Amino acid sequence: MFDERTTCAVVVGAQWGDEGKGKLVDVLAERADLVVRYQGGANAGHTVVTGETQFILRQIPSGILHRNVTCVVGNGVVLDAETLFAELDGLESRGIGTGGRLFVSDRAHLVLPYHKLLDAASEKSQAIGTTGRGIGPAYADKTGRRGIRVGDLRDLGATRRLLADRVERANSLLAMMGVAERASLEEHAALLERLAPRLLSVATDTGLLIHRALQAGKRVLLEGAQGALLDLDHGTYPYVTSSNTTAGGASVGAGIGPTAIHGVLGVVKAYTTRVGNGPLPSAASAEDDERLRKLGGEFGAVTGRPRRCGWFDATVVRYAVRVNGLTGLAVTKLDVLDTIESIPVCVAYELDGERCEELPSEVARLERVRPVFETLPGWCAVTSGARTLADLPRHARAYLDRIEQLAGAPIRYVSVGTRRDQIIEV
Ligand code: IMP
Repeated sequence: MFDERTTCAVVVGAQWGDEGKGKLVDVLAERADLVVRYQGGANAGHTVVTGETQFILRQIPSGILHRNVTCVVGNGVVLDAETLFAELDGLESRGIGTGGRLFVSDRAHLVLPYHKLLDAASEKSQAIGTTGRGIGPAYADKTGRRGIRVGDLRDLGATRRLLADRVERANSLLAMMGVAERASLEEHAALLERLAPRLLSVATDTGLLIHRALQAGKRVLLEGAQGALLDLDHGTYPYVTSSNTTAGGASVGAGIGPTAIHGVLGVVKAYTTRVGNGPLPSAASAEDDERLRKLGGEFGAVTGRPRRCGWFDATVVRYAVRVNGLTGLAVTKLDVLDTIESIPVCVAYELDGERCEELPSEVARLERVRPVFETLPGWCAVTSGARTLADLPRHARAYLDRIEQLAGAPIRYVSVGTRRDQIIEV
């Protein structure tokens, strides 16, 4: 990913999230100096396995497990500070020292308990199937110019006045939505007072920090959360998250210019999953859905919800290649397909009787598409020990060649298991 020209690269999800970005970031972080989260919040659940230990990171960048990497939570993130500190404490208790290695943007917006109440209430009228972490309401407050940012904690008196207005507003909304629960101003004020000293001790202008690191020739990895099809603009709206998950969001959310970024790696599963509501055009039959879920352990890292499973959807990934400007692909969970005798790949859609190779913009049309499947032979052999492409069975290589050709971007990595070493660099 990094070379002489590329000192700043982005890793994004190129499907509906849960592609295995955490593992890729962890692997690539070995060659990075800085790892930066730039959007989303505690809705993400990045899984990293080191040795026998599994870590699930929601707020902290996946690079934290490398002791010489500095981690940054950028301005584009909506920050759940309680989750952040619980995660930091959890890492410390497992022997991962984080002191002096984590910085938080003073421009990042805070997710507060009233955002979570509003998230739950809004699910009752429009079921998106959110993670319930308050993400949508926090971003709505940001664009509505009534958010509370990390830097606001420097003046707790003024912030308390802001808070009184925000809590009152949230309570009116809750009443309008027919929900009995109310947010408490006192509890919110106490929470901010408690969080402020620790948060301010790591708060800084992180855009400047990243800029200086790049100027000094350091390597910066920008870690996306969720996936392209959950992007607020480019995803399957309204069944999306509330941030720009595509690579363009990296520049805005990290506070650096787009010209600083040279490499964009899109992570895709060798098949497709989706959690939450909204269309999944390449959905597998009920039997295969169950089989893939079991084989792949497809349950949400944050919510534990079962993920819906489908086959590799080339229309989705081609689209993700285009809207992200992907320079390479990382294919994960190839080993999950090891026992499947023949593997369907969705090569295009049929929409109202016509072949369709581009993703329709509206969910109503996407819900009407029928997948056009091509079936490839399975390899029925164990791939988890492969460390080079040559170690893979012939049909597994043919499968990768075909999805690469359909997607239109070169495969740079293939992951064949959860462990760090279970990766093929192409
Ligand atoms: P929110 O981000 O909690 O508002 O949820 C909006 C949609 O994005 C829902 O369909 C969630 O299931 C989905 N989503 C959010 N974060 C993730 C993630 O990290 N992986 C997969 N899906 C996600």
